[in-house]
Amino acid sequence: MHAIPAARLGDDVRVRMRGTQVPNAPANPARSSDAMNEVTVQAGETLRAAMRRALTLAERGPANDPNPQVGCVLLGPDGHIVAEGWHRGAGTPHAEVDALSQLPAAWRGRERELVAVVTLEPCNHTGRTGPCAVALAEAGIGTVVYAASDPGDASSGGADTLREAGVTVASGLLEDEALALLRPWLDRQSSSAHDVVECIRRDSGTAYSPAHSVFTRSRPRPHVTVKWAQTLDGRAAAADGSSQWITGVDARGDVHRRRAEADAILVGTGTLLTDNPALTARSETGGLLVPPAEQPIPVVLGRREIPASANLYQHPALVAHGLDAPLQFAGDDLVAHLEALHDRGVRRLFVEGGPTVASSFIAADLVDEVLIYIAPALLGGPRLALGDLGIDSMPGIKRLRIIHFAQLGADLLVKAAIEDHHQNDGGH
Ligand SMILES: NC(=O)c1ccc[n+]([C@@H]2O[C@H](COP(=O)([O-])OP(=O)(O)OC[C@H]3O[C@@H](n4cnc5c(N)ncnc54)[C@H](OP(=O)(O)O)[C@@H]3O)[C@@H](O)[C@H]2O)c1
Repeated sequence: MHAIPAARLGDDVRVRMRGTQVPNAPANPARSSDAMNEVTVQAGETLRAAMRRALTLAERGPANDPNPQVGCVLLGPDGHIVAEGWHRGAGTPHAEVDALSQLPAAWRGRERELVAVVTLEPCNHTGRTGPCAVALAEAGIGTVVYAASDPGDASSGGADTLREAGVTVASGLLEDEALALLRPWLDRQSSSAHDVVECIRRDSGTAYSPAHSVFTRSRPRPHVTVKWAQTLDGRAAAADGSSQWITGVDARGDVHRRRAEADAILVGTGTLLTDNPALTARSETGGLLVPPAEQPIPVVLGRREIPASANLYQHPALVAHGLDAPLQFAGDDLVAHLEALHDRGVRRLFVEGGPTVASSFIAADLVDEVLIYIAPALLGGPRLALGDLGIDSMPGIKRLRIIHFAQLGADLLVKAAIEDHHQNDGGH
């Protein structure tokens, strides 16, 4: 099973904890801190690594499911992961139950020593599956650490059930990363306020309330991911405009897998006319990764005409969605265009450039996350990955929070969430 370096519980990460009582359990990383009804858990790299692993597992779940993507690892007292699980979609076992089912026989009867590290507060809801909070408590798990709380109602739920059962509970570890992962799902809940989805609400009978969502927006729009490939010196193309291919096969394979999870894929007319892209989600051998109906719908931004010879006319999603041509928007009102896409059911939009389009989405604060594929190469010249973002001076700097990074062949992938610019702290 996946191993994490020796436990260093008691290190530097402060984890907020809701609740007042912290029973001392074996391998208990929690301690009571003050009279403010607050408890901090000091967690070292071990817990953070475990949560990162849980987030990676969560990503394996279906992105467009009624249920959220959730991952769980069970951590032994020596810091090794002894079991792991993730949710594979509505009607299948939840991540915690999946992880419990993977517990090796040697750990049966020693569950009290284990820490369950979960990306979302264990549910308290009996839907098609039983409540995860009860499953963890009945299994005898000693400590539960989760990343994101149920955003619908913070006052009750699985955490309370666990505490009442004597389980040590802490929340908030890598919360931003977990919320970034959950955001499309949260947005889907916001856009269908009357839906009561399995396990959204942690207490039976109470529905998730979009009014409480930290992501409530004035106008609905899809979750927007902007992706680009660049050289180490920040160039997205050579001086003549050619950019195929800056990165290698592994990075491009990763892009295609992520395309497959998007509902729509957008490029500007500049990219369309220069690259004539297919914008399908394909395997290395050219076959479709997902059926035509699940391929991302091609969208073009700009006033210039799409040439009749454009590869986009062959895009399999067109026929599947009853379209004669790619969707096209002039580009003068991005908020309205995104709302129009949302109205069509697009919940995840993958923006593949080019630099002018990427820059205007970022400048307009309409981007949730960026995926930057960085090749160990230099191009120099004028073709920067991003152009003007409307930032004149340091106070306007856009801060990003790195959610994930990986080496893909010779290339690097950095996935980062764009902070709300109002939260910039002006630091260096
Ligand atoms: N490395 C990478 O990841 C990557 C990815 C894609 C492209 N590229 C490279 O980038 C180059 C093309 O990039 P580009 O910047 O010239 O073109 P682009 O960003 O694809 O398209 C820019 C065009 O989009 C239209 N547009 C409409 N509304 C817009 C808005 N709100 N904001 C921005 N643009 C809007 C405008 O054309 P109209 O006049 O038609 O309205 C504008 O000229 C090519 O060399 C391509 O190979 C690299």
